[in-house]
Amino acid sequence: MTQVASGRIGLAPMEGVIDVVTRDLLSADGALDWTVTEFVRVVDARLPARVFLRHCPELEHATCATSNGTPVHLQLLGSDPDALAANAVHAQALGARQVDLNFGCPAKTVNRHDGGASLLRDPTRVYRVVRAVHEALTPLGIDVTAKVRLGFDDKQLALACAEAAEAGGAAHLVVHARTRREGYRPPAHWEWIGRIRARLAIPVIANGDIWTLEDYWKARTLSGCTDVMLGRGMLADPWLARRIKHWQRTGEHLPETPWAARAEVLAAYAQRMRMHLPEKIVVSLLKQWLNQMRGRDDEAARRFTALRRRTELQAFLDGLTPVMQDDISARQEVAIGMNG
Ligand SMILES: Cc1cc2nc3c(=O)[nH]c(=O)nc-3n(C[C@H](O)[C@H](O)[C@H](O)COP(=O)(O)O)c2cc1C
Repeated sequence: MTQVASGRIGLAPMEGVIDVVTRDLLSADGALDWTVTEFVRVVDARLPARVFLRHCPELEHATCATSNGTPVHLQLLGSDPDALAANAVHAQALGARQVDLNFGCPAKTVNRHDGGASLLRDPTRVYRVVRAVHEALTPLGIDVTAKVRLGFDDKQLALACAEAAEAGGAAHLVVHARTRREGYRPPAHWEWIGRIRARLAIPVIANGDIWTLEDYWKARTLSGCTDVMLGRGMLADPWLARRIKHWQRTGEHLPETPWAARAEVLAAYAQRMRMHLPEKIVVSLLKQWLNQMRGRDDEAARRFTALRRRTELQAFLDGLTPVMQDDISARQEVAIGMNG
């Protein structure tokens, strides 16, 4: 792998997972360039302010950013161009600095109601939606962006849909390199992102199955994209963006993320979530996160097995520690290395 000078990294929107606290924790080291909210579903009427604020509490900060200043883009999902435009304008009035449109959600309920990936069956509809939101937001000085999959059932319309999003006025396009039918099954078809990128003038951002630094480089090489978006990989390894940025700057590989660092993120998450949610729910959210980690880390796998039946929060948190002394030393060495 040759060292590269730059390349932006976004945090993928993930409904039920990437909430305000997760965005804040995962962006805290400054390695992410932007984050995106879970989707706000638009059916027809203009939504009340509280719906936007629930999905995106960062609207209350002057710059709509996480606490360390990483921009937060607000995502809308729907199919009615006028309703989406009206809600985008409302979101801007509440403080949104960039609006993203979801054309990728595979959920049956969403697709049945004609939203998310179902629009990929008709590029004209992709165009109309993006155009309406673009025309509404341009006078207000903010951009609309779009996130797509490679298609609904197959990839026949992948290029046409991407071109439609660009013609509609999208400032960038994130491509999750799978069709809706392919769900989340590997592989992600990064070379297809390359075909799209070759056709468009706007930045195209590669997304799907980037779990490691090696995946990052392979996705960049096969897609030709400079920028990527990381989803589950950031949950599995909260140092993934940092690892990539460190390598970009220095050409060096950071060591494996120590268990202590992973446990710290989980504990910080629990600490903040328990202020708003019942403890049982916090435990199930922690299990969901640890479940993402366990596929990529042996210690996480051991802790998951030991803790999977726990329902009491304190017992669960106690089970994340003690941390081995070696682990603490490894983390301190990395911290010193990063500062130096
Ligand atoms: C639980 C879950 C929820 C998701 N929610 C959204 C969403 O709200 N909006 C969206 O555009 N994509 C959503 N996605 C798709 C991700 O943004 C991303 O495109 C996908 O997970 C592939 O990237 P990854 O392999 O890096 O995770 C979701 C994915 C998962 C697994």
